[in-house]
Amino acid sequence: MNKEEIRNKITKLKKEKNAVILAHNYQIGDVQDVADYIGDSLGLSQKAAQVDAKIIVFCGVHFMAETAKILSPEKTILIPDIRAGCPMADMITASELREWKKNYPESKAVCYVNTTAEVKAECDICCTSSNAVTVVNSLSADEILFAPDKNLAAYVARHTKKKIIPWDGYCYVHRYIKARDIMDKKNLHPQAETWVHPECLPEVIDLADKVISTGKMVQEARKTKKKEIIIGTESGIIYRMKKENPTKNFYPARDAAFCFNMKKIDLGKVLRSLENMIYKVEVPLEVSQKARGAIEKMIEI
Ligand code: 13P
Ligand code: SF4
Repeated sequence: MNKEEIRNKITKLKKEKNAVILAHNYQIGDVQDVADYIGDSLGLSQKAAQVDAKIIVFCGVHFMAETAKILSPEKTILIPDIRAGCPMADMITASELREWKKNYPESKAVCYVNTTAEVKAECDICCTSSNAVTVVNSLSADEILFAPDKNLAAYVARHTKKKIIPWDGYCYVHRYIKARDIMDKKNLHPQAETWVHPECLPEVIDLADKVISTGKMVQEARKTKKKEIIIGTESGIIYRMKKENPTKNFYPARDAAFCFNMKKIDLGKVLRSLENMIYKVEVPLEVSQKARGAIEKMIEI
C-alpha cells in the first residue's frame, strides 16, 4: 500500500469506528497530517476528554496516552506502538518516590506530567512545562520535591523563593542540545530569536530569548513578527511550525534532536492500531483515581 492508500483507509476506518486521532507536536509529519488534533502533552489529554468519540488513537508516548486514559476512563485509548515510552518518565518509580518523600516529611512532591500513572498517584500535584512555576508557587510548603526532570527543576528554582529539591532525571533529547549548538546557530542566523524548552540545560536556557513549552512555541510562532527563530526542542515540531507559518524560518538548535520514542509511530502503525484495536492503554482503577486527583489539582490552578 502506498501512503495515499493508507491515509484513505485510516479516514474510512475513523468514520466507521467513530474514532479520533491525536498527535503530539513531535510526531513525524505523516502522522501529524492524519491527526484530528495536534498539541502538547496535557492539551491532548484534555482534548481526549472533550471529544465525543469513544475511541482515541493517541500518537505520542505512553505517559501521555495514560494521562488521557486517566482523564477519560470510559474511552478506549489506543497507542499505535506499545514501545513508545518516555525514558525520562521511567527514571523514577512509585516506590522510589515513596522512599524519597519519607526523608522530607515537611515537603510537597510535585511530579512533571512526564511520569507514569503510579508515580502521579504518589505525588501531591502534577505540573507541565508551561505551569511548573505557578504550581510550585501555589503550594503552602517551603520545600518542594520535584521529579523527575532536574533541568526543569533548575528552571523552576530560578523563578521561586521555595527550596527545590530535584530528582536526578533528564530528557536525553534536550540534554543533547548544547550551548555551543545555540551559539553556532546564532552566528549563522544573527537576526533570529532563540526559543528553548525548559527541559534544556541551564546554560542553554541562559542563551534563550524565550523558555516555553511546545504548545506555547506553536502559538508564539503564529504571533511573532520575527521571521527567523532558532528552536531548542525536539526537531519534529518544526514540521508543524513551517506548515502553519510558511513565510517564517525555523531552525533546529541541533539538527538531529530527535526523540526516537516519539518516532516509533508511523502511518502503517496508525492504520494497524485502528484495524486491530491495538494497543489498549489501561490504568488500574485505584491508581487512576489517585493520579487523577493530582492532575485535577493542577488543572484547577
Ligand atoms: P510538552 O508538554 O511541552 O508537550 O512536552 C512534552 C515533552 O515530552 C517534552 O519533551
Ligand atoms: Fe520523553 Fe524527552 Fe522524548 Fe519528551 S522528548 S517524550 S521528555 S524522551
